[in-house]
Amino acid sequence: MAAQVDGLYFFLVAVSAFFTLLIFLTVFIFAVKYRQEAHPNPEHIEGSLPLELTWTLIPLGICMIFFAWGALIYFQEARPPRGSMEVYAVAKQWMWKFEHESGQREINALHIPVGRDIKMIMSSQDVIHSFYVPAFRIKADVLPGRYTSTWFHPTKTGTYHLFCAEYCGTQHSGMIGEVVVMTPAAYQSWLASGGATPTMAANGKELFTQLGCATCHRADTQGRGPTLAGVFGKPVQLEDGRTVMADENYIRESILNPQAKIVAGFKPIMPTFQGQVTEESLGALVSYVKSLSQPQQKAEGGAPQPIAANESN
Ligand code: CUA
Repeated sequence: MAAQVDGLYFFLVAVSAFFTLLIFLTVFIFAVKYRQEAHPNPEHIEGSLPLELTWTLIPLGICMIFFAWGALIYFQEARPPRGSMEVYAVAKQWMWKFEHESGQREINALHIPVGRDIKMIMSSQDVIHSFYVPAFRIKADVLPGRYTSTWFHPTKTGTYHLFCAEYCGTQHSGMIGEVVVMTPAAYQSWLASGGATPTMAANGKELFTQLGCATCHRADTQGRGPTLAGVFGKPVQLEDGRTVMADENYIRESILNPQAKIVAGFKPIMPTFQGQVTEESLGALVSYVKSLSQPQQKAEGGAPQPIAANESN
């Protein structure tokens, strides 16, 4: 995104510089040209419609260019491409904790392969932080109680600064780290050097059983809760008639505040798991639910056969 952000930024600077010069020059030239000695008797001038239209419409046009260009970049930045590699981040006073889908965890360092789309799924354990990598020209707030995301596509290997860009307490300035962009081969050997870890989805599956989720969210349609296979990334019909998209925040809310959105055909009987699951556990559960919608990961997630979408109780 850096080249695009820079392009817009330099355009803004160039337009500002142009108008600053234009205004200063005009002030200077008019001050000399229309000084009192040259024009002892000032002339009364009524307004001029063409002139006023000109100085209204031209700036309007320029502002619209800023708006459209900025919106275009914003939309790209806000929508991680499909098939992005996902990394979960948990911010806390005062560190960055990262977890890869493969289960590798690291603190204040993020290792990623070059040339891949990387989607960050971020939440905070305490206050508001902000994930900021100046070299990538991306910055996204990291909030308690919900997921925010951002994405980037590193094009050069190297080590880049990671900052927290939201004042978050005494050691805010020390909440720094590095993003290490590696060749795919180096990344693979980095992953392997951590030893074999269970994937996030596998951790999530274990939690899913431990917490008793599996008793109601059964693979067949006989459970007291909706089956979760194939749910992620699809619209969900709710009891109150609304339709919501099953994204990371929907899964999260359904675990912590199950009464907020009841799936059509089900009763609001699920207890909350607020306070029983850590941010890391939530990430694992979300990752597991996602894996149930990815056919290629069926073996790992143990996903049941797809079922009809319009099942009811
Ligand atoms: Cu975290 Cu500033």
